[in-house]
Amino acid sequence: MLLCHAVRFSYYVDWVQALVNLSNLSSRSASTYKSSEDILLANSNGNINRHVQSSSSSSVNLLNTSSEYNLSLPEPVSLSNQPLVFDVLQMESDKISEEKSTSNLPLCPDIPDIKDLDGHLGQATLLIEDLSEDEVHASYPFAQPGGHWKPAHCQARHKVAIIIPYRDRQSHLIRLLDFLVPMLKKQLLDYRFIVTEQYGDDLFNKGRIMNAAFRLAEKLKVNCVVFHDVDMFPQDDRTPYSCPLTPRHVGAFVSNLGYQLWYKEIVGGVLAINMDDYRSVNGYSNMYWAWGGEDDDMGKRILSQNYTIERPNSDYVRFSMLKHVKRKRTAPKLIYKLLDSADTRWVTDGLNETGKWDIKKVIIKPLYYHIFVDVGKPPDEWRAES
Ligand code: BGC
Ligand code: MN
Repeated sequence: MLLCHAVRFSYYVDWVQALVNLSNLSSRSASTYKSSEDILLANSNGNINRHVQSSSSSSVNLLNTSSEYNLSLPEPVSLSNQPLVFDVLQMESDKISEEKSTSNLPLCPDIPDIKDLDGHLGQATLLIEDLSEDEVHASYPFAQPGGHWKPAHCQARHKVAIIIPYRDRQSHLIRLLDFLVPMLKKQLLDYRFIVTEQYGDDLFNKGRIMNAAFRLAEKLKVNCVVFHDVDMFPQDDRTPYSCPLTPRHVGAFVSNLGYQLWYKEIVGGVLAINMDDYRSVNGYSNMYWAWGGEDDDMGKRILSQNYTIERPNSDYVRFSMLKHVKRKRTAPKLIYKLLDSADTRWVTDGLNETGKWDIKKVIIKPLYYHIFVDVGKPPDEWRAES
């Protein structure tokens, strides 16, 4: 337990990239997607404005303080957890519906039957700290906007969105994408990435940004989502990123946690869950601020509804966790109190709530969808403890 509590998942905001995105907005009124870096914004009347990022982002100055960041926001750009966000994202959804159907192709083999998967994945590339997004994009020219790829010669069995909660860990994010892309491709999945970032620099609320990302995943018509911490790297390419029948704690056995399962409801790190199951546990709690607890709450939600938590074979499904500043539960008393009520509170606290988050912006980048989510203000008691 001590080890578990000493080693923490963490999330960071990439201010610089966000500023780059904000400061390069320029209007354009095209009706189809051309640039892979298009930005969708909606104003409060429900009108959709399209903006395109200028291609050069390197010359942008670094106004990296939160107040300047907030001031530079174009208004109004609010996409709330209301019909409006669905209208906007409908554009993306329609595009998917227009995609050529592959239903006349034979089904792709399932992961255990794929001969191309060769087991252990070298971990040496994790040491490369200065990989750029452009370099990674150049190595994977097959990536469609949003990082989307699907097999051309067979029909993918699983449509997956990898959701990466993110705060200020650009170098981890790039390495993770670089690491996962070839593996997901070999697994013959129909995949894309959603990087979900909290807007502003207030206390982190990971549950809310994950719920927001799930709403986008629904629009992308996937069969399941994989919530993926930015610092978790699979050690074997047979690690199942396919859609599970019952919630699958993919990242159960982790280097920094001694490859041990510390308690039965643990589901942190990497969790795959199909869309119906996520809706039926009402997503993540919106009530955990700062660091820790929201994943344990999810574990309790899952167990209280008698789902089995699937955990893959620990002989080979193991993860390396990158080192970073250690975290611990910032407000342990508040977290314990919440966890005590987790198996009943889930009915009203979660995905079905409105007004808990607001997607401010969706950027469709070459390697991932990038959303910025306003999670509102934390209650004073959390601020005091953190
Ligand atoms: C935290 C969880 C975390 C786990 C493992 C717990 O104390 O509340 O959020 O996943 O430790 O580090
Ligand atoms: Mn971490």
